[in-house]
Amino acid sequence: MFYTKRLMLRNLDPRCDTSTWQHWLNTVSTARVFRTEGLRPTSTEDVSATVTKVAKGGDILPCLAICLLPSDEQTHPDKLLPSDDLFVKTDGSARYPMIGCLNLRGSPTPTVNVTNRTASLGIFLMEAYTGKGYGPEVLEWVFWYLFDALGLHRLEILTLASNKPARKAYEKVGFVEEGRARKAIFQDGVWEDVVSLAVLEEDYWARKKKKVDGDDEEIECTYKTF
Ligand SMILES: CC(C)(COP(=O)(O)OP(=O)(O)OC[C@H]1O[C@@H](n2cnc3c(N)ncnc32)[C@H](O)[C@@H]1OP(=O)(O)O)[C@@H](O)C(=O)NCCC(=O)NCCS
Repeated sequence: MFYTKRLMLRNLDPRCDTSTWQHWLNTVSTARVFRTEGLRPTSTEDVSATVTKVAKGGDILPCLAICLLPSDEQTHPDKLLPSDDLFVKTDGSARYPMIGCLNLRGSPTPTVNVTNRTASLGIFLMEAYTGKGYGPEVLEWVFWYLFDALGLHRLEILTLASNKPARKAYEKVGFVEEGRARKAIFQDGVWEDVVSLAVLEEDYWARKKKKVDGDDEEIECTYKTF
């Protein structure tokens, strides 16, 4: 598990997360974010296979479930007994339900190239949890994880030019717009431009130094078990 101030980032577990993913992929508004190559319904088998593969890991960079950090002390993971299942409650539901997910991979190939050390990121929050600063909070953790913990050099993200909330959130934490692919995605009868943004490790170090020199509050990231 990883923690930020208000969130917990945990591994995915097909036992309790498949139904949430299935819901996302079969709801038009959310499926649009995941399926920019075109909408299509997704079977339980397909979703289950994807979540199982992602949960198993194997790639250097993970796909993680974004969850609210329990406000009740008693339900904090640190308070669980060794015999308690970390992910699934006895009734089969998720102990820490996902409010979104985060997908990290190497760029341009899924495996991080040791020379160029570049990653790409996908992030999704359920609508009820947008606009509360959770996205930037996750992104601050991503920077810490990639640049401080793993020693990567560059992080890239793509977004629709029309996705103003996303661009605002990315620019807030230091992403710089680098380019635009014109009319690259066809959605709902409209051609959309895709904007590419990136953060370099030196951008991050400079921002971090400014934060330490000034009195800006730092996002707290704690490494626990994973
Ligand atoms: C993109 C995303 C991760 C940003 O995280 P977030 O926690 O919402 O970010 P913030 O709370 O800092 O909001 C960023 C800005 O967008 C605005 N915003 C966020 N959600 C909004 C919504 N649903 N409707 C209107 N404005 C919204 C906020 O008011 C904020 O503007 P402000 O800084 O002027 O106040 C999140 O909104 C999200 O997951 N959206 C849905 C999926 C998506 O678009 N993913 C990105 C694909 S590239």
